[in-house]
Amino acid sequence: MPHDVSLIATIAIGFVLAFVLGFAANKLRLPPLVGYLLAGVIMGQYLPNFMATNAVTGQLAEIGVMLLMFGVGLHFSIPDLMAVRWVAIPGAVCQILVATAIGAAMAMYLWGWTLGAGIVLGLSLSVASTVVLLKALDERNGVSTPNGRIAIGWLIVEDLAMVVVLVLLPAFAGMLGGHVPASDHGADVGLMASLGNTAIKVAAFVLILLFFGPKVMPWLLRQVARTGSRELFTLSVLAVSLGIAYGSAELFGVSFALGAFFAGVVLSESDFSHKAAANSLPLQDAFAVLFFVSVGMLFDPSILTRQPGMVACVVALILVGKSLAALAIVGVMGYPLSTALTVSAALAQIGEFSFILAGLGVTYGLMPAEGVNLVLAGALISITVNPLVFAAVDGANWVVGERPRWKALFEDSRAERFDRLRSDLELARITLEKKLHAHRTFSPEELVGRFPLFAGLTPEQREVLILHFQPRTAQPGDRIIRSGDKADAAFFLSSGEVEVAVRGRTVNKLGAGSFFGEMALLSGERRSADVTALDFCKFLALSQRDFRRFVRKYPSVYEQVVALAKERGDMNRQFLDDLAHGTAPPLT
Ligand code: CMP
Repeated sequence: MPHDVSLIATIAIGFVLAFVLGFAANKLRLPPLVGYLLAGVIMGQYLPNFMATNAVTGQLAEIGVMLLMFGVGLHFSIPDLMAVRWVAIPGAVCQILVATAIGAAMAMYLWGWTLGAGIVLGLSLSVASTVVLLKALDERNGVSTPNGRIAIGWLIVEDLAMVVVLVLLPAFAGMLGGHVPASDHGADVGLMASLGNTAIKVAAFVLILLFFGPKVMPWLLRQVARTGSRELFTLSVLAVSLGIAYGSAELFGVSFALGAFFAGVVLSESDFSHKAAANSLPLQDAFAVLFFVSVGMLFDPSILTRQPGMVACVVALILVGKSLAALAIVGVMGYPLSTALTVSAALAQIGEFSFILAGLGVTYGLMPAEGVNLVLAGALISITVNPLVFAAVDGANWVVGERPRWKALFEDSRAERFDRLRSDLELARITLEKKLHAHRTFSPEELVGRFPLFAGLTPEQREVLILHFQPRTAQPGDRIIRSGDKADAAFFLSSGEVEVAVRGRTVNKLGAGSFFGEMALLSGERRSADVTALDFCKFLALSQRDFRRFVRKYPSVYEQVVALAKERGDMNRQFLDDLAHGTAPPLT
């Protein structure tokens, strides 16, 4: 090769292999993730030249995690989390403690590891992957079901807990028998000082972002969206997500993943969250694939033959230990068996945070390097069998449903709490929808349906146009435009009826789908007529500046507007002529 193209080769071969194996996995009714991981394993094993680029691949994978966490943040709904908090927060915390304790005990008593190593391994195995869960739920159309939302809430709490763990690990490393690299001055200033320092930094970051974010970011995106350039919009979403992730890591020492997650949370509150999600999705998908490929590349399959016992213990903990713990916790909380089973299946896998944590554990000398291999083996196996676990849960639910006595015992008698939670979730959904509704005036399709004037615009152009509109209302009798006033906006009537009057006489009535206020904007003169609401009206206002910009951009619409304005002008002149000659209709 003429110059070093190993990164290009890695990405190209990674994508090709991931695609072929992902497709094959799909045909075998396995999640495509399994194919991606396998592609990585093959690359790592049989194409050793690519191992040289592992560091770079690791960074690409990290971009994948950042984008994925940004996506999780974008879809993160605070009302949803509030609705499930009583099950998700205690549940996730208890489950992490139980799984970590089992993992640590297993490592210490069975393998003779140190306490620090045991804790890091236990923590790595205790946290499930939100990414894997979202993909699993998506395939089963379960993302918005109550059980699905409980599981997502639970995993988000786990993610947040892991972020805290990642932040605290350097501070505790020395105490647990590890060492902290010189560049990471965490432990040498004393545990309390280091903890306090970290807490202040994280709190400062979250406060700054949550305080300024909701004001600045939607404003910024609105400005970008108004340019009508999809490319610039996608770029702004990327700049915000990766920029905040990187900047927060540099300035505040929080992890990339947390920074990206909060960037997503802040954007999720704005009316651009859908557009931002849609635009960043292809990139998220592509980098997520690289993430899984690179995980596969790091894996050393020889561990399966070298240490089958240890691998079996790890897999048993992930599949059985964690599931049983979650089943018991949800059961004790009084939820039906089906909920407990769904959460258990959701937790029966490990993913991105486990790799990050295990990697850090090795860096800090807390865990033997073999630990990373064990975690990777556990991840590969548990992610691969996860669909089977969900299928088993479906089977169990079916069996219970078929037996009236079991159903009464495990489901019906425990329905009360679940029903309350379901209605809370429903309330959260309604609140969210209301909010979205308040933000959004029209969908692009509705806009055309209501205003045929815009039929010639592309969906993108319609979307941009919608961003310019300000929704307004008027009561019957309200004067929307006063003759002789200076022009400031044009109005598009979406419902109701208005009356147009010249010199106190009605010349016309306009209904939904028509517009008014364009004549003065076009001519630069004063308003030519009074416009008064006849009943409750809803309309969209387009400011003078946006109107000018808009007509310049869309000549087809401009021509229609000019033609109608001319028609109206002619009509009014005729009317005034008639008035002067005494042939106008009587005063209204
Ligand atoms: P403008 O002159 O800016 O403000 C008053 C608006 O009333 C005017 O723009 C038109 O949009 C509208 N208008 C004036 N005359 C008529 C008419 N004859 N029929 C319908 N609308 C009219």
